[in-house]
Amino acid sequence: MKIDEIKTDELEPVKFIEQKANDIAYTVSNGIAINALSGGVDSSVVTMLGHRALGDRLKTYFIENGLMRKNEPHQIASLFKNMGVSVEIIDAKNKFFEALKGLTDPEEKREAITQTFYKDVFGRLVQDSGAKFLLQGTILTDVDETVAGIKRQHNVFEQLGIDPQKAFGYKIIEPLVQIRKDGVRKVAKALGLPASIYDRPPFPGPALAARVIGEATPERIEIVRQATSITEIELSRMKAFQCMAILHQDKVTGMREGKREFGLQIEVRCWDSVDARAAKPTNLPFDLLTRLADRIVDEVPGIVSVTYNIASKPPSTMEAV
Ligand code: XMP
Repeated sequence: MKIDEIKTDELEPVKFIEQKANDIAYTVSNGIAINALSGGVDSSVVTMLGHRALGDRLKTYFIENGLMRKNEPHQIASLFKNMGVSVEIIDAKNKFFEALKGLTDPEEKREAITQTFYKDVFGRLVQDSGAKFLLQGTILTDVDETVAGIKRQHNVFEQLGIDPQKAFGYKIIEPLVQIRKDGVRKVAKALGLPASIYDRPPFPGPALAARVIGEATPERIEIVRQATSITEIELSRMKAFQCMAILHQDKVTGMREGKREFGLQIEVRCWDSVDARAAKPTNLPFDLLTRLADRIVDEVPGIVSVTYNIASKPPSTMEAV
């Protein structure tokens, strides 16, 4: 099915909000819907649209998959609570790490996360809540890249010929599928969401598992979580589209306190982009890069090397996995 793109400069956010809230209300009728909030701008907008349309008949969950950034679950849940939206945190860490065990291939990791999320965790929530619909924030770029076979975005089904009703037992509603990231930000602002949300850099569905090359064990995720936190703080003043730390699989020889240390490598990426379809590495001042590297090797156990990616998308993609 061809999706009718609404270009960002033609998007009228107030009209869009009204129309999508009406569509959701019509589709769900007097039933119940559920959605997963991650705190990213896409899922935040969907949460607000759904609450506008359905009020308490939308059940919003934050799935703690063990792959999120430092303190993210509680920060997001309390931000939405302050806006009158209650969010239940579901602890599913063990399920995700169990599913990721032994997997090193990027697409297999994505598939394991998708299945755990939609079948295992959501399948159960749907059963318990009696919901027939799942609202989710798929955007047009997710569909494009999946259809082109570049990366399987974890939230795209119909375009791959998968019927969620058959595969998972519920229908999926995607109110944002005609717009791209910059359009979603316009809508978020019009919905009254705070700047910490509408200006929030994107974060991938597979979360930090997309930033660990090789097996995503709890220990390796914790390493990349710490490096991510430092990277985001140090590079925040650049106001880049997105910045990230990636844990490599290969080790390299380093030295610490006069002794050889065969240690781990972190690759930093920082992107300038409008809509994530193409991106250039941000021209970062060298002193900022070296301060970042110093902090990462000092504060994150086992890291002896830090590199900065200077290739563009394409042929790179923004996330490494
Ligand atoms: P890529 O890596 O495809 O990312 O250039 C484009 C933008 O989409 C965000 N994003 C994802 N990337 N898998 C991905 O690889 C996902 O499931 C996903 N969800 C969102 C990514 O962070 C970047 O901004």
